[in-house]
Amino acid sequence: AFTPRIFSGIKPSGGLTLGNYLGAIQKFVAAQEAGTESIFCVVDLHAITVWQDPEDLRNATREVAAGYIASGIDPTKSILFNQSQVHEHAELAWIFNCVARVGWMNRMTQFKEKAGKNAEKQSLGLYAYPSLMAADILLYHATHVPVGEDQKQHVELTRDIAAKFNHDYKVDFFPITEPVIEGPAVRVMNLRDGSKKMSKSGESDMERINMLDDADKIAKKFKKAKTDPEPLPDTMDGLADRPEARNLVNIYASLSGQSSDAVIAEYAGAGWGKFKPALADLAVDKLAPISEEMRRLMDDPSEIDKILAHGAEQARAIAAPILKRTYEIVGM
Ligand code: ADP
Ligand code: NA
Repeated sequence: AFTPRIFSGIKPSGGLTLGNYLGAIQKFVAAQEAGTESIFCVVDLHAITVWQDPEDLRNATREVAAGYIASGIDPTKSILFNQSQVHEHAELAWIFNCVARVGWMNRMTQFKEKAGKNAEKQSLGLYAYPSLMAADILLYHATHVPVGEDQKQHVELTRDIAAKFNHDYKVDFFPITEPVIEGPAVRVMNLRDGSKKMSKSGESDMERINMLDDADKIAKKFKKAKTDPEPLPDTMDGLADRPEARNLVNIYASLSGQSSDAVIAEYAGAGWGKFKPALADLAVDKLAPISEEMRRLMDDPSEIDKILAHGAEQARAIAAPILKRTYEIVGM
């Protein structure tokens, strides 16, 4: 049996969004507060699977770290570090490249979505990304991974890699990790197109709420968010074919800590002229103190760097023996 341990990460490939906050960070804080041993990572090796300007990458790394801390990740309770500072991630990923099958990678929908018609022009790293993600998780023998729904398939691949490694080498060394995907905001959608998820790397700033957006910007983005003209129905079933409306109700629910059913019951019959400003106020209430603290932290990059360096030492203390044992199992 493996001791419960949580691992999760966020890419420094741009500014943090409300999707990252509701789908990931908010849950990380809850896990930490529940007392589960938790390890949180800024996954810069994943970020460079698509081109990153070096200076932007350095800044985004600090912004993600600041976002974690400002939201409540406490580096004295959880381990918080930057992936590239623990070289064991890249080493275990290589072993897993030799465990995972090309056919498994070919089934990854996120690669297909990101590559579009240009698969041949993508980096090899983007294709192999899920194998590095498996290494991130299994390097700590993590038993649970809180993630948004977009990462479900990658966690399943992590389980397949662990199972094949254990089977091929006749060991019970890696845990079969559980994804934790729950609550109303497991998939926050793009504000301009309800069929796409909200993402850091979206084309237009109007399609996402950034954690560093000010109150005016948040209000404007929700006001301009695509919706239909109908008022809100009295149950969530009434939103089955209204993805944009459903998204805004789910965001409200997640921000307020209520169920979507409770929110729709409260706003039954309301029009967007009432719901959108209420949603904007709620988002500002939640995000303003966090963004203020993020800015304060980012004013002193050396302090963030110190926290990350300390976290890397703590992470390596767990990772190094697990990698060493992996090499021994493999015959190295
Ligand atoms: P992004 O897609 O914004 O670049 P990452 O790939 O770094 O985000 O994902 C970091 C975490 O945030 C993951 O757990 C991911 O599932 C979650 N996440 C990202 N976007 C969303 C979203 N729109 N809704 C819910 N969770 C999300
Ligand atoms: Na993602």
